Amino acid sequence: MPVITCIDDLKRIYHRRVPRMFYDYAESGSWTEQTFRENTSDFDKIYLKQRVAVDMTGRSTATQMIGEEVSMPVALAPVGLTGMQCADGEIKAARAAEKFGVPFTLSTMSINSIEEVAEATSKPFWFQLYTMTDTDYVSRLIQRAKDAKCSALVITLDLQILGQRHKDLKNGLSAPPKLTPSTIANLMTKWSWGIGMLGAKRRNFGNIVGHVDGISDAADLGAWTKESFDPTLDWGKIAKLKEDWGGKVILKGILDAEDAKMALKVGADAIIVSNHGGRQLDGALSSIRALPSILEAVGDQVEVHLDSGIRSGQDVLKAVSMGAKGTYIGRAFVYGLGAMGQKGVETALEVIRNELDISMALCGRRRIDELGRDILLIPQDFEGRWQS
Ligand SMILES: Cc1cc2nc3c(=O)[nH]c(=O)nc-3n(C[C@H](O)[C@H](O)[C@H](O)COP(=O)(O)O)c2cc1C
Repeated sequence: MPVITCIDDLKRIYHRRVPRMFYDYAESGSWTEQTFRENTSDFDKIYLKQRVAVDMTGRSTATQMIGEEVSMPVALAPVGLTGMQCADGEIKAARAAEKFGVPFTLSTMSINSIEEVAEATSKPFWFQLYTMTDTDYVSRLIQRAKDAKCSALVITLDLQILGQRHKDLKNGLSAPPKLTPSTIANLMTKWSWGIGMLGAKRRNFGNIVGHVDGISDAADLGAWTKESFDPTLDWGKIAKLKEDWGGKVILKGILDAEDAKMALKVGADAIIVSNHGGRQLDGALSSIRALPSILEAVGDQVEVHLDSGIRSGQDVLKAVSMGAKGTYIGRAFVYGLGAMGQKGVETALEVIRNELDISMALCGRRRIDELGRDILLIPQDFEGRWQS
């Protein structure tokens, strides 16, 4: 059993075990990948203030996100095709999150269906919705999430059109993978992944296949997105979706203060400052750089969460100390899942909690509600001064 001390250890094992097509799918940003890179490198520009001689007993990373108790301010982000990274990946990740006491968000583009995840878990999870032109299908999807007792609807706003990730086009990404000479050659070196997949409950999109008519090729993510996602989504439609859902709504993909104010107007319970992990608009600001202006605009009126670029508990500490009420990890849990299944996701969460806990202590803080900007050293020009 390898000794895992950080998220990078999991990433190395993940790289070895999972077929190239799915590794590349996760480990890519759009176009030049500038935003993808800066999501992580911008965290490094923020420093922590060491404090000493503070009693550090009785520490806790527990807090709340949208009123739900969480063991640390970290949720699992919605990640499409998780069940291709590891057999029954969504079920395994959801179980790890449940065991750890953090929220799990199931993507519309998951392999395991809403019903399969609900059956395999005992606590409510969150469901992430992509809006489609087929409004009957969207209504049925919302009803399925209600029937599964999902406790929040996360509506993703930054993917009405798919950002181009070069490697997915070159690899011919699909679920299940199409068997070409080069995929076969690569799959032959990933035998443990293949054996797991033979026993998987499902190898296609569980929320789509069998629930919607007239899709020419649901295995092809790009084709499905082009045909089905609703390019006319606007704030009126978002307000209507909130009404149809009737429960807590989290709006994901906010990067601009004006959009944050609109999200507030339509009654969001929380917003996620996110650039989709650098997978959509390349050249957009990193999430951590966009956070301060959004907090200034709406931070006292709605819960502001953040994702994109979190690879450690120190990143969580920086985002939360800046003012975010919660964070999400995407790739960090996918690395764990691809490396070691459910155990790997639990390990990723444990690594992050440990880093968060120790860093908090060394900054002289014992509880999440004691965190604030005063433990951070943020460069003066961090947000950037832009010409109007
Ligand atoms: C492989 C992959 C698939 C994703 N699929 C979805 C998705 O189906 N729905 C969604 O809202 N976001 C999706 N995202 C974005 C994540 O929810 C999240 O915003 C992002 O991963 C955060 O960045 P991080 O990976 O650096 O933590 C995906 C991200 C990755 C890496």
